[in-house]
Parts: sequence; structure tokens; C-alpha cells
Amino acid sequence: RPEGLDDQFGRRARDLRVSVTDRCNLRCTYCMPAEGLPWMPKDEMLTDEELLRLIGLFVRDGVTQVRLTGGEPLLRRSLVDLVAGIAALRPRPRIAMTTNGVGLERVATGLAAAGLDRVNVSLDTIDSTTFTQLTRRDRLADVEAGLRAAAEAGLTPVKVNAVAMRGVNDASVGDVLAWCLERGYELRFIEQMPLDAQHAWDRRDMVTADEIRARLSERWTLTPLPAAERGSAPAERFLVDGGPATVGIIASVTAPFCAACDRTRLTADGQVRNCLFSTTETDLRGPMRAGASDEELLDLMRGEMWRKRRGHGIGEPDFVQPERPMSAIGG
Ligand code: GTP
Ligand code: 5AD
Ligand code: SF4
Repeated sequence: RPEGLDDQFGRRARDLRVSVTDRCNLRCTYCMPAEGLPWMPKDEMLTDEELLRLIGLFVRDGVTQVRLTGGEPLLRRSLVDLVAGIAALRPRPRIAMTTNGVGLERVATGLAAAGLDRVNVSLDTIDSTTFTQLTRRDRLADVEAGLRAAAEAGLTPVKVNAVAMRGVNDASVGDVLAWCLERGYELRFIEQMPLDAQHAWDRRDMVTADEIRARLSERWTLTPLPAAERGSAPAERFLVDGGPATVGIIASVTAPFCAACDRTRLTADGQVRNCLFSTTETDLRGPMRAGASDEELLDLMRGEMWRKRRGHGIGEPDFVQPERPMSAIGG
């Protein structure tokens, strides 16, 4: 096995997604039940010091971007310090965050000062009634304020993620795009994946990338950006009416991008996952707390990546949804 976070299909991990908490302050129906989930016990969660040691090892082994996710990452009280700790690593990785935007208004400036480079904000609808039904919380105004604060703090490009859902927001994708265009946010629509805690996902209900594109094309001319510019990005992007604004579609199910995948994941309780959909994980917390050396930890990380499968296999007969829900993997 070679050195570095390589797999058997010639891919190397460059992008580390770190879930810093499994908790969330929203209860999106496609993600969590109203009562929430059994949260991770505190003593099973990595401390900042432990997280920084592991992130430093990933960086040493080739990771150039660290993305903080959750649950909702802003619920981790030490987040600003954690960002500062990551920014102090050498070579300094780029630092991004995926957040629901609630609570971002208050901390955007502090996060930017600590070294956060950019944010992606999850926002599926701009209709306040639909937002409240979907997230089970009346917080649309907070998300809007968070987005504004992020742009003002220079956490740009500010991206907006919208999961397309039949009967919820599929008819109004154009309104979300118009709203984002007006404000200068880069919108991406996402095909829903089988990752909900309730295991209720059904391929037949899924709004496809083609449908989203057709719907948007009723109002705008979409011109695909050259495929060569996409790299390992999940989103296929289109110029809107000739640009410069773009809209993206993340077609994880109908047009998987696994062949160019450069991602690895670390959960809040210290497990490395080689894929969003991996059914196994490698524990780093236990060995680390038992005194493992950097070399031993690196070896465990590399071993996990080496086992990465060619693709997620959604739709194949032997596909099994991962045991961990999205909120504990970090998307
Ligand atoms: P950018 O670097 O800004 O493009 O971020 P990103 O799109 O990689 O990350 P983000 O957290 O904004 O995720 C957007 C959507 O892409 C979410 O639905 C993620 O679950 C999905 N996504 C991110 N990484 C992967 C992946 O490796 N595989 C699949 N299938 N989906 C992914
Ligand atoms: N399929 C696709 N995207 C999802 N997200 C949450 N659950 C799913 C799912 N089942 C999105 C969130 C967030 C990002 C990390 O993933 O809305 O934008
Ligand atoms: Fe990579 Fe797995 Fe995502 Fe495919 S599903 S792009 S292999 S992490």
C-alpha cells in the first residue's frame, strides 16, 4: 500500500469533511424525527485538542481543504477556537463550513477573523411557511440574516444548498434561484440521497437533476460550464443567462461523481469514513486515547481509505444505507 490517503482506484483524498457535532437546532423532516435523535455522549466526542491532532495528520498526508459540518457545526461552542487551530496548521488548509445558517449572524465575523474562508448554507425554501413546516422551526429570518452576515464578513463565495423535494419545493425552484441571484449567492440544488434517519427515502419520489434543470430552463437559459473545470466538485454548474452568475445541480443519484471523488470524512466521535455511504468505519479515538503514535494513526487512516469502494452503489441490488444518519456523518 502506498503512502498518502489513496484508494485502489487511483483516487487520493484532498478534502476532509469533519463533523464537529451530531446535534442540530433544526429538525428537517428529511433528516430527523421531531424529537431529535439519541445524541452522542459527550465523552465519546473528540476534544478540540484531539480533533486538531487528527486534522493535522490528515493535512500531513495530503489534505488541502477542511470542511466543518455537523449536525449543525455552529452548535459546537469552541468552533471559533477550532477554526483558529486549523488555520495554524502548516501547510495551512483552506477552511470551509456547511451550516444551516441559524446563529451565523452572530459569529460570521469572528469565524472569518479566525481563518474560515467560506460557507455553504443549507436553505431549501424561501417561503417562510414552507420553511417552518420543513424544518419544524420558525427560523427563516435567522438564516437570511446569517447569509447576509457571511457575505459581509467575506466568507465568499457564499453558496446556498437546496435539497429538492417533491411537493415541498420542486415547483418553486425558480423562486429560490431568483432570490439567490438577487443577493449574489451561488445556489446548488441537490438530489435527495438515502441518508435520512427514518429510512423513508424512495427513489421514485426523488426530484431528479433533469427535472430541476427543465424547471429552471422555463425562466433562464442554462449553459453548462466545461466539464474540465469541474474537477472533483459534486455540482455540475451552469451559467445563468450567459453568466457571470451560475447555478449548480448535485446529481448524486442520477449522475454520480464518485470516479473523481477526493473526499474523506471524520466523525465527531473519531471515526474515519472513506465514503458518505461506507458501511464500515475505522476508529481513531480508541487508539488515540490508548496512546497511539502519529504513525499508527496515519496507518489506520490510510487503511480506511484503501478500502474505499468504486462508488456509492445507490440503486444496485446490494446497496445498504449506512447505519449512521446524515446528521452524524456530516453530509
Ligand atoms: P463545495 O466545495 O463548496 O462544492 O462543497 P460541497 O458541495 O462538497 O459540500 P456541501 O457540504 O455543501 O454539500 C453539498 C451536497 O453535496 C450535500 O448534499 C452533500 O451531502 C453532498 N456531498 C458532499 N460530498 C459528497 C460526496 O462525497 N458524495 C456524495 N454523493 N455527495 C456528497
Ligand atoms: N440528501 C442530500 N442532501 C442532503 N442534505 C441533508 N440530507 C440530505 C439527503 N438525504 C444536505 C443538507 C446540507 C448538506 C450537507 O446536505 O441540506 O445542505
Ligand atoms: Fe465519494 Fe462516496 Fe461520495 Fe461517491 S458517494 S463521491 S465515493 S464519498
